[in-house]
Amino acid sequence: MNNCQVRAISIVLCLGMMAFSDAGFAKEPLKKERSRSHIELDPSNTGTYTGEAGKDNFIANCSPCHGEAGQGDGPLAGTLGEGVKPRNLSDAKLLSARTDDFLFKVIKSGGAAVGFSEAMPSWKETFTDAQIKQIIQHLRKGICKCKYNGNK
Ligand code: HEC
Repeated sequence: MNNCQVRAISIVLCLGMMAFSDAGFAKEPLKKERSRSHIELDPSNTGTYTGEAGKDNFIANCSPCHGEAGQGDGPLAGTLGEGVKPRNLSDAKLLSARTDDFLFKVIKSGGAAVGFSEAMPSWKETFTDAQIKQIIQHLRKGICKCKYNGNK
């Protein structure tokens, strides 16, 4: 190793240590700040736990856009951009034209995966496949009260 390399390595080490100790200083007050102010009410989430996982996950995660009853009127509905509206999932005519597999794909992979707006997020990092199926059951039983009837 030549002199120049040695110097370069020690500069890197030194910068690394500076960054590390800075973080150490910043952490303490930040933590205190958090513990004082972190409990906030979320006014948009008025749901209560029902013990039905599909319903609870829908209310907590989907209702901000789609609304608790799925009508496309959640508090974020108006913020998604020009011409983009969350779908009215209580529309039995719409949902009975959709297979469960299609709903699974939209929810798991997001709107863009099926040619819809990317404002409909992908939920694969949030929910397991089983949880997505529970949400679909809630869509069927609690929201549109409908089944796929594409064969009729
Ligand atoms: C950030 C807002 C937002 C959230 C949160 C959201 N959606 Fe959506 N969703 C949309 C939008 C916007 C569309 C319509 C996309 C379009 O018109 O191209 C959509 C479309 C859909 C569709 C397609 C309906 C059809 O026509 O087949 C389904 C199903 C759906 N959402 C279910 C869910 C579920 C279940 C959740 C929660 C796990 C969820 N969405 C959360 C914005 C959202």
